[in-house]
Amino acid sequence: MPGKLHEEIVGRSPAFVNVLNQIPIIAKSDSVTLIQGETGTGKEVIAAAIHDQSARSNGPFVKLNCAAIPGSLLESELFGHERGAFTGAVNQSKGRFQRADRGTLFLDEIGDLPLELQPKLLRALQEQEVEPLGGGRTVRVDVRVVAATNQDLARLVSLKQFRADLYYRLNVIPIYLPALRERSSDIPELVEYFVTKFSARLNKPKLSVPEEVMELLKHHEWPGNIRELQNFVERAVVMSCGPVLRPSLADLQRMTHVESAAECQTLAAAEREHIMDILNQTGWLVGGQGGAASRLGLPRTTLIHKMRKLGIETRRSPSPRRVQNDPPPASRAIAVAAASIL
Ligand SMILES: Nc1ncnc2c1ncn2[C@@H]1O[C@H](COP(=O)(O)OP(=O)(O)OP(=O)(O)O)[C@@H](O)[C@H]1O
Ligand SMILES: [Mg+2]
Repeated sequence: MPGKLHEEIVGRSPAFVNVLNQIPIIAKSDSVTLIQGETGTGKEVIAAAIHDQSARSNGPFVKLNCAAIPGSLLESELFGHERGAFTGAVNQSKGRFQRADRGTLFLDEIGDLPLELQPKLLRALQEQEVEPLGGGRTVRVDVRVVAATNQDLARLVSLKQFRADLYYRLNVIPIYLPALRERSSDIPELVEYFVTKFSARLNKPKLSVPEEVMELLKHHEWPGNIRELQNFVERAVVMSCGPVLRPSLADLQRMTHVESAAECQTLAAAEREHIMDILNQTGWLVGGQGGAASRLGLPRTTLIHKMRKLGIETRRSPSPRRVQNDPPPASRAIAVAAASIL
């Protein structure tokens, strides 16, 4: 249940609740899980929640960002090394797999794992054993792996930049996190949460957020998703004098400018977004008259197939209270015009 989740997970939009509802089930499963979603959508937060709600919660939650470590060091970081395994290896060192024993290993930016390491990771996942560098011995581990990426892994597979066998091994349980623009009804709650957090951190009384500012933030597109919103609110809290949140107009215009450059999205992401829009409009009715399939001009089975492929849950129960249309992202012109209110 969403209420029992880690306290820092904010959001009640249908698209996000759909994800939250899956967490306890996924946590219990102990299977390899792949979290996909744009940058800043909360992949790490969800990975931690899966660990917290699993039977491994008393064990370690170990992170490794595959993009942050040079390829030459990554193997030793993952699997460890023996003393003298390479120049500079003065001591034996445990890799992240061993450190995550009886816990969860969170492999972030998995799309950046070099091709030559991919068979070794596949083996570790399949055999639950690792071979530290330079020793020729194997060590048994008991690790649940949660991986995350903001890249389209299936596309990387088709480009031969990611091994298909590893992709299928990782994609046992896929989770697709919605972008903030697909859950804009969560923005007010997130803004309030961040304003409270940063006001308290700065020892300020909680700043109030004028309605017109909230409207503006709600209609902004946020290509950097929750992280970008969070940073924006932090800056606004720091810079505001007095009891009211007053974000700077220049900041918003600058962000709008950056968004125009960042607008290029993959075909799959565009398709997913459009299907989500139509599903929200039809109250998640897929087939039948007025259903999403007929609106999209597709046979019902084709749409269901597409939804599965794109990681859109089909079993959502349409509740009239929850299923509300998130307003479409406002045009930049509106955003900039509204900014003049500030
Ligand atoms: N539902 C949420 N409620 C409150 N804060 C959130 C939520 N989701 C994410 N955040 C905050 O937003 C920031 C980004 O989240 P996170 O690091 O999990 O995103 P990510 O998808 O892993 O991003 P990246 O792809 O860039 O690594 C973090 O500071 C996190 O605490
Ligand atoms: Mg991350």
